[in-house]
Amino acid sequence: MPGLTAPSDYSNEPPRHPSLTINSKEPFNAEPHRSALLSYITPINFFYKRNHGPIPIVDDIKRYCVSIGGLVKNPLEISMSEIRKLPKYNVVATLQCAGNRRTEMSKTRTVKGVGWDVAAIGNAIWGGAKLADVLELVGISKNTPSSPLGGKHIEFISVDKCKEENGGPYKASIPLRQATNPEADVLLAYEMNGETLNRDHGYPLRVIVPGVIGARSVKWLDKINIIEEECQGFFMQKDYKMFPPSVNWDNINWFTRKAQMDFPVQSAICSLEDVDVVKPGKVTVAGYAVTGGGRGIERVDISVDWGKTWFEAQRYQRGNIPHQSDDLNTDKWAWVLFKAVVDVPENTVIIAKAVDTASNVQPENVEVVWNLRGILNTSWHKVQVRRASQVVISNL
Ligand code: MTE
Repeated sequence: MPGLTAPSDYSNEPPRHPSLTINSKEPFNAEPHRSALLSYITPINFFYKRNHGPIPIVDDIKRYCVSIGGLVKNPLEISMSEIRKLPKYNVVATLQCAGNRRTEMSKTRTVKGVGWDVAAIGNAIWGGAKLADVLELVGISKNTPSSPLGGKHIEFISVDKCKEENGGPYKASIPLRQATNPEADVLLAYEMNGETLNRDHGYPLRVIVPGVIGARSVKWLDKINIIEEECQGFFMQKDYKMFPPSVNWDNINWFTRKAQMDFPVQSAICSLEDVDVVKPGKVTVAGYAVTGGGRGIERVDISVDWGKTWFEAQRYQRGNIPHQSDDLNTDKWAWVLFKAVVDVPENTVIIAKAVDTASNVQPENVEVVWNLRGILNTSWHKVQVRRASQVVISNL
């Protein structure tokens, strides 16, 4: 693609915040400390970065354009300035890597993949054009499951060189029905939190598919193809699929499972980490809860006695306004933050579990959702804390 090139090595990576925890250096995969997730909008510097190759470079933004082709009568090349002329939408959406909380899952049984704590997730204001508007420019109308030439999926192709694709680019697809639905808010985004997208997050243009695992939100967009079948790329067919606990590397058949799209209900405590020492008295338990598919968060329950009794946490999005999942003013693609002030009676484990508006509940144990790729660990989130007085006593 003119204007956008993909390096073959890591000598031209962008600067990053030194406080990030680096889970893999090349390709660069990093997450912030979990306490950075206690603000509703995640600052760009502290937003997790998930890459499969070196970060592409824009040589000349004036020459950059996205080509739209495949099963369309009038293929098109659209420049950045033409995309910016389309109606602009700001969508607050949580992006979550399917591998979020993988490290915890691998403690049960080894899994394959980059290790992540609870911060492979962030919530941002994404600014850009709606994909549904862009597709109209090539004659595909809104809310349609199939295009006049028989296209049923929209494939997004990048330029980055990924070893999983044998040096080829990252790619993924979503159903045409979702891409053409203005209510699904699928964006071609050029802004993040009001700023021009930076290189790590997909400059100059990326896809944002709200409510769906981050793997489908392709960065550094080069081509959009209207295709009949789902994208056949590695990350759609041989990765990011949820297998049952019985499947291992000897008996796996990738084609028996579908590509993961919506993410399930999830929550994590971000105000505490394992073996924090807490003073006797009140302790604040705070964090995020989120679910996929545009459903809302109905409840977040907290327990300080291994799940015998539960307290309901307060939920909020902007400011401290109590959150109501069915309110028209809620950001339906965004996480809700939760907070509860609890008495911690003794050395214990504090647990959070969220319930979404379809009454889907996080599973109690990681074992029941264990899978060989270590994706979608949505088990109850637990942190182990010690009461300060008992620490003093035990030190005597
Ligand atoms: N797009 C390209 N081109 N290359 C990638 O490696 N990673 C995907 C997705 N889009 C990826 C990509 C994955 S797995 C995730 S979770 C998100 O981007 C991460 O987006 P972020 O780095 O902006 O947080």
